[in-house]
Amino acid sequence: MNKILLAGLLLAALTGCKDERETGVKPTNVIDVSAVADPNSFAQPEKVRIEHIELDLGVDMDARVLRGSALYRLQWMDERASELVLDTRGIDIRSVQGLDGKKWRDLKFKLDDEDAMYGSALRITMKQQLPQVRINYATRPEASGLQWLSPEMTASGQPFMFSQSQAIHARSWVPLQDTPGVRFTYDARIRTDPSLMALMSADNDPNAKRDGDYRFSMPQKIPSYLLAIAVGDLVFKPISSRSGVWAEPSVIDAAAGEFSDTEKMIQVAENLYGPYQWGRYDLLILPASFPFGGMENPRLSFITPTVIVGDKSLTSLIAHELAHSWSGNLVTNSSWKDIWLNEGFTSYVESRIVEAVYGKDQADMEQVISQFGLAAELQELAPDDQRLALAPLAGRDPDEALTDVAYIKGEWFLKFLEERFGRDVFDPFLQHWFSTHAFTSTHSAEFERFLEVELLAKHPGKVSIGEVREWLHEPGIPSTATPAQSKRFDAVDAKNAKWLAGKLPAAEFESSAWSTQEWLRFLEKMPDTLSPEQMAELDAAFAFTGTANAEIAQRWYPLTVRSGYTEARSAIEAFLLKIGRRKLIMPTYDALAKTPEGREFGRQVFEKARPGYHPITVGSVEQALAEPASEPAAATEPAQ
Ligand code: BES
Ligand code: ZN
Repeated sequence: MNKILLAGLLLAALTGCKDERETGVKPTNVIDVSAVADPNSFAQPEKVRIEHIELDLGVDMDARVLRGSALYRLQWMDERASELVLDTRGIDIRSVQGLDGKKWRDLKFKLDDEDAMYGSALRITMKQQLPQVRINYATRPEASGLQWLSPEMTASGQPFMFSQSQAIHARSWVPLQDTPGVRFTYDARIRTDPSLMALMSADNDPNAKRDGDYRFSMPQKIPSYLLAIAVGDLVFKPISSRSGVWAEPSVIDAAAGEFSDTEKMIQVAENLYGPYQWGRYDLLILPASFPFGGMENPRLSFITPTVIVGDKSLTSLIAHELAHSWSGNLVTNSSWKDIWLNEGFTSYVESRIVEAVYGKDQADMEQVISQFGLAAELQELAPDDQRLALAPLAGRDPDEALTDVAYIKGEWFLKFLEERFGRDVFDPFLQHWFSTHAFTSTHSAEFERFLEVELLAKHPGKVSIGEVREWLHEPGIPSTATPAQSKRFDAVDAKNAKWLAGKLPAAEFESSAWSTQEWLRFLEKMPDTLSPEQMAELDAAFAFTGTANAEIAQRWYPLTVRSGYTEARSAIEAFLLKIGRRKLIMPTYDALAKTPEGREFGRQVFEKARPGYHPITVGSVEQALAEPASEPAAATEPAQ
């Protein structure tokens, strides 16, 4: 694809042509979005594309490797092409074959030198454009997209392995075109120890016989970052006929109870945005080392156990991962610069689900907390990174795009449109976006075009294109934004202010009915540091130190560190040893890293915690605890 053609495509996407404006929506496949280059992948999808992958892998829990083969069905796009380039990182390639007529023949291949961020391009050359290629390979124990847990690290006392492919970690366990601009279907045969269960982002059968030989099929096209696998002592409990929970036996009942509203959530989303298109929707509860809150692997969301707190107060996470079944999995950002199309839309849909299932008060509280986090993050981010539509992430780690700008500014933009047009107009518009772009990868310019044609032009006088462009292309939050408000938080703020003024003892708060979110607000509104007496008073009244609620711990422990309240140190250690979810533990590591003494304590705890952390979490903690050297504070932690 030459640059001029590329620019032409982008321009067409941006402006649309007159005819389309008169006739309505142009079929989306006219814009060849996957031809828009992804600088985070070596693949060349304009030459050849993977259409289908057949995996045949053995899971070796002792050696911590996956071993076997991947077979690719190819679609050649350019008749002059003779090379298939795949992304890999730290994969041992044994051999490569191509299907020539009815015979498999060895093919020449070459692994490029490794790039620290993107891995090595695997170049497979062939004389003719063969329809199928097969690679025999093995992963390495340090694969960044896999975590291997030894029996002592799991609730069941059995080993556990799971993948986390987003954003560019799929390439560490399967050679593939690791870009969200390419979609493929897949089948898999996975062999494990017979006492373990294997699951994938595919058609998991709740009644599958546990025999160590499992087969999967994903008949809908997905991008590589949604390829997922987990193996462990996993049992199933249904929530409804199409939904249920997988977890280790000791966790299953609590999980099924906490997430019993899942079917309701699916129905709310279907009423708003059209049928759920993926067949089953199940949840997999992972060990506490899972580095994220959740991951929207299709048909099987991966979920942290840290949201199981007994009162459903943190189940918006399920609403979020479920919402990705429309925004993200059905309609996908074609490269990571447009991640707001996945995460901003999803945060918006999440909030609509929460409002319908738990009420407006709950949705409002969550909104205020999100916007509070966004305001803090905006202070750290370079202006260019405050735009929704980012510049191509050439030479950057795509995780750098994973900020509250994508999530919360993105959500706020859609809320702004909703307010201006009204739900009667905006809800069908969004449904239309999903249905016209289903199973495709797309980008900000295409959304801008669609918005202009399908919403602004059809309902003139409500929002100008200038306002839209400000949201998409300018830093910061436009002045047209209405901040979220919560009456329940106003009451919390009043108590907080009175307590700080010494006019209301903590013991007289009457806060027994406060939800998790009210506690979070209470802690977020604290000044940077409190006196030892104030810390002790709060702890005596509310027992924050040692809390079982990790969201509260995420805010309380950094406050103890900043305030020099060392009484919390052993509880901090227990917290950091137990949990690997980055969002929850990084604020505490960051606070510790601010003083030499704190950093030393942080390092000692990290030494112990490290074997139980996911490679992604290890990377983040190492960066936080590194000597402050002369580097500027620009290296901000991803928000999620
Ligand atoms: N898809 C994300 C997680 C992700 C994004 C992993 C980018 C790697 C790269 C997932 O849907 C997500 O947003 N998780 C959040 C949940 C929260 C916003 C409700 C998390 O893990 O905290
Ligand atoms: Zn998400």
